[in-house]
Amino acid sequence: MDTQLIRTLPPTLESEAARYPAVHPAAVKAIPPSQSGSLSSTIAEALPLGLDGVQNISIMPRPERHVVALGTTPNIGSEKFLILRHRLVLMRQRRRLKTLVVTSSVPMEGKTVVSVNLAVTLARTFSRVLLVEADMRRPSVQATLGLPSALPGLSEYLEGKLELTSTIRRTVPGGLYVIPAGKPSINPVGLLQSPRMVELISRASVTFDWVIFDTPPVNPFADSPCLASMSDGVLVVARSGVTHSDSMQQMLNALEGTFIAGVILNGVEDPRGDGYYAYYYRAKAEPKRTSTGLRRYLPIGKKEISNG
Ligand SMILES: Nc1ncnc2c1ncn2[C@@H]1O[C@H](COP(=O)(O)OP(=O)(O)OP(=O)(O)O)[C@@H](O)[C@H]1O
Ligand SMILES: [Mg+2]
Repeated sequence: MDTQLIRTLPPTLESEAARYPAVHPAAVKAIPPSQSGSLSSTIAEALPLGLDGVQNISIMPRPERHVVALGTTPNIGSEKFLILRHRLVLMRQRRRLKTLVVTSSVPMEGKTVVSVNLAVTLARTFSRVLLVEADMRRPSVQATLGLPSALPGLSEYLEGKLELTSTIRRTVPGGLYVIPAGKPSINPVGLLQSPRMVELISRASVTFDWVIFDTPPVNPFADSPCLASMSDGVLVVARSGVTHSDSMQQMLNALEGTFIAGVILNGVEDPRGDGYYAYYYRAKAEPKRTSTGLRRYLPIGKKEISNG
C-alpha cells in the first residue's frame, strides 16, 4: 500500500452536510415508510442468526490488493485503521453505530480496500464482524480477501433463492464473517429495497458486533444512498488525486438525511508521519543507556555523545 494512505478526519461532517440542499434520489424516496420505519421494531423482534452451521473459508489476501491490516507486523497503514477503529468505538458510546456503509463519490477511490481493512481490524477485537459485499455491480471483496470467486451470496438471498445463513461464510482465521455479492444483478437497487434487505439488516444487527457494507460509488448509482438510509452511519472515502469537490458535494446531497460518521482520506501523502513511524521503530530497536541509567532512544546513524 502506498505509505501514508489512510487518514481519518474529525468524526463528523453532519453539520457540513446540513449546509447542502436536500436532494432525495428516487431510490431512497421509493422505500415505503412502513418498511424503513419498521426497522427498530424488527430489530427488537429478530432472533439472532444461528452461525454454528456456516461454512469456514480461508483468507489468502493478495499483496497487491492492499490488505494492510492482515499482516502480523504492524505498519503505518494498519495503524491508521487502528485509529479509525478507536474513533468508531468512541463514537458508538454516544450513538447507535452498528451497521456502517462504506461508500465514495466515484469509482476507484478505495471503498473496498477501506471496507476490507476496517472489517479485518474490527475482527481483531470483536468476535463477530460481518462484511457484506453489497456492490452487486462490480464486486471485489472476494478478490481482495483472496476468497474463492463466484460464491453465491447477497443477490441469491435477496432474490429469495437462499436463506440468509447459507450466504454467510466464516473466514479463517478470525472473527470475520463475509456475505459475498453473489451473481451480479441487473437491478441491484430493486433488490436492496426489498423487505429481505430490511430483514438482513435487522437480524445481522442482533447477531454481529459490527456490520460493514462495501458499496458502489454514489455517483451515479442509488445503491449506497438506499443502504445508507437503512443503516446507522456512512463512512465516506475520498482519494487523493481522484475525488473532486463537485462529485463530493453531489454525493453529500444524495446522502442527505443519513449520518456521515466520517471521511477517510485515501492515498494522502504524509511523509512526516511515515518518518516518525520508521524512526520510532528503528530507534526502539536500539535503546541506549544514559549515564543516569535511563534508556534513551537515538536516531539511527547518530552516535551517542559522551559526557566525559
Ligand atoms: N491507498 C492506495 N494506494 C494504492 N493503491 C490503492 C489505494 N487504495 C486503493 N488502491 C487500489 O486502487 C484500486 C481501487 O481500489 P478499490 O477497489 O478499493 O476501490 P473502489 O472504490 O472499491 O472501486 P470501485 O468503485 O470499482 O468499487 C485497487 O486496485 C486498489 O488496490
Ligand atoms: Mg469496490
